[in-house]
Amino acid sequence: MKKNDCLSAELRVLDDCFRVTIIEMKDIAEKFHEAMLDGLTRLKGPLKMLPSFFNIPTGEENGVFLSVDFGGTNVRVSLIKLLGDGEITVLKKRSTLLKDPGGSYDYTSSAATGRELFSFLAEQIVELVGANETVPLGLTFSFPTEMQASNKAVLIAWTKEFNTRMVEGRDINLLLHDALQGRGLHGIMPVAVINDTVGTLLTAAYVNPNADIGSICGTGHNTCYFEPLPPRQPGPMIINIESGNFNGLPTNDFDRYLDLHSEKPGEQVLEKMVSGRYLGELMRLVVLDLVHKGCLFPGRGSDMTGFPFQTNSLSAEHISLMLGDESLGLSETAAWLKGSTGIEELSLPELSALKTIANLLTTRAARLVAATYAGVLRRLDPLLKRPHIIAVDGSLYEKMPGFATNLRLAMDDVLQDRSGQVTLKITKDGSGMGAAIAAAVAGAFK
Ligand code: GLC
Repeated sequence: MKKNDCLSAELRVLDDCFRVTIIEMKDIAEKFHEAMLDGLTRLKGPLKMLPSFFNIPTGEENGVFLSVDFGGTNVRVSLIKLLGDGEITVLKKRSTLLKDPGGSYDYTSSAATGRELFSFLAEQIVELVGANETVPLGLTFSFPTEMQASNKAVLIAWTKEFNTRMVEGRDINLLLHDALQGRGLHGIMPVAVINDTVGTLLTAAYVNPNADIGSICGTGHNTCYFEPLPPRQPGPMIINIESGNFNGLPTNDFDRYLDLHSEKPGEQVLEKMVSGRYLGELMRLVVLDLVHKGCLFPGRGSDMTGFPFQTNSLSAEHISLMLGDESLGLSETAAWLKGSTGIEELSLPELSALKTIANLLTTRAARLVAATYAGVLRRLDPLLKRPHIIAVDGSLYEKMPGFATNLRLAMDDVLQDRSGQVTLKITKDGSGMGAAIAAAVAGAFK
């Protein structure tokens, strides 16, 4: 078969492999809803359904708070003023990578301990507010924690390929408290810990009471919602679903290969199919398969280093670049590829095949996420009798070309004539601002 025929035939196969039909979305929504109930009532199944000990805010909370947002890629420290009438101002902020691309430090891997990591966080606080500030602190910690109170959160297990030593099984707030004391920051009081999804929902609900679902589509993926009747809890509260661990999904060979070679095989199956931490690697595996079949970059042999031979040589940013490439002859994609593969001559069909694959993967991601949102809505309001706002934060939703549009279209597909009741709302920096709101309302559940 000629190279281009081979490429078109393989693209058709991939299209089948990554397509999620409306029927499949409805089925996933049903299964997701059932898994939510299992997690809530029987503490079983893939969804942890973790209580947050936070309720929806009134919008009247006010004061100045320090927010520390420990996400998947950066730590963001901000001094935030809540004005009380649903208004929030960021007074100052600072963002630092958790892993230096130059290799001088890495707090995300087993190279570091929890003590080192939290001392690094305390250092970022000193850099922003100095050593003498007196202010309550809210921490957004974007990993699954078992909340025992609004200021007591034990890390269940790392996700997103993190592996820092001596943090799993420990109280995150205590680690932070000790690091602050160690640096002499006696005026900074860590009063609240939340998940980033919870922060996103708190931020959106501070402004609009119809917000009842919060979600992150970024390095990782997860969703929370306002549960009016959580079993075994003192009252209505936000529940962190940890939806990235959902596994009732149709996977293909690429998904299974990626999972098998990840830090924690069998875990975070949905997250590995939809989030920024994994989409690049998934696409690399697809491209590598086409190279092995001789349909892409033929005759270049396997002595090539870099993309697509090297693990993690493709990132979500590269996918963004390809999807956003509107240049003549896809010259921006070509320039990047030339730099990372050394290939001088790339044909237009090869370049557009890459864009097609990027599109297939990100569209599937949007449709899977939409199906899980439909599952949550089924719990909240099965007939969609009232309006709902789903607050979404994260780099994928904000920056990946086409992702937000595909998510909306997928919601319309799965919810059909009731879809108008549901608004998807970008809640930029919601995870960090939410930490300030959490600090303002901490301790409501005794
Ligand atoms: C991972 C974490 C989860 C977090 C999400 C988004 O799925 O387990 O807690 O909310 O990433 O950052």
